Amino acid sequence: MHELLPDGGIVRKLWVGEADAYRDHLLRLDPESRHRRFTGTVSDEIIVGHAATISGVGVVAHGFFVDGVLRGAAELRHIGSPFATEAEAAFSIELPWQSHGVGTVLLERTLLSARNRGIKALHMQCLADNKRMQQLARKFEAELTFDFGSVVGEVDPPRLTPLSLMREAVADSHSITTAILDAHWRRLFRPA
Ligand SMILES: CC(C)(COP(=O)(O)OP(=O)(O)OC[C@H]1O[C@@H](n2cnc3c(N)ncnc32)[C@H](O)[C@@H]1OP(=O)(O)O)[C@@H](O)C(=O)NCCC(=O)NCCS
Repeated sequence: MHELLPDGGIVRKLWVGEADAYRDHLLRLDPESRHRRFTGTVSDEIIVGHAATISGVGVVAHGFFVDGVLRGAAELRHIGSPFATEAEAAFSIELPWQSHGVGTVLLERTLLSARNRGIKALHMQCLADNKRMQQLARKFEAELTFDFGSVVGEVDPPRLTPLSLMREAVADSHSITTAILDAHWRRLFRPA
């Protein structure tokens, strides 16, 4: 799994208890990114309520952290039961970190998680003029058939494999190690 991230950035799953960090990230989005993320105008209250559900059953969230602050996120939510084969995915990256490859890494991780959970169809709410999101999805055409008219993508192949499970486990353990080292590093070198 190749991950080319802006300097100092790491991608890992969000942990239980990080809903507040997710809320703060979503509230920091500039107006246009917020509009694109939620495909319309939403109030702060709706965002606060939405962020609180991130640790729920059937939700897998990946975060992009810089110096311990959540600057980007990808949500994968089962539609219906946690064992459903359809899910919804959504992405948000704060403006200074857009167009630096973060969305690519987040989508790659999200697709791996989707496959390992038996997801066969992935819905993405995307405004018709959101060219960047469309370009991003096209980069994964081999894995994701995306029809922007109906905003449903097929994850192909839909089944998990021992290798795909191992890739997710390796990515997770690497992320935990990196996060621990990152936290120690910041504690040691934080300004007095
Ligand atoms: C859409 C979004 C998730 C994309 O993530 P990103 O990190 O900016 O995208 P990447 O840097 O990985 O670029 C992905 C592809 O988009 C295209 N792209 C990047 N920047 C672009 C730009 N400014 N204009 C048009 N296309 C662009 C490129 O094809 C790029 O692939 P490449 O670098 O291999 O050529 C991010 O910009 C974002 O959060 N936007 C606001 C919220 C949103 O639109 N969410 C999507 C709805 S769920």
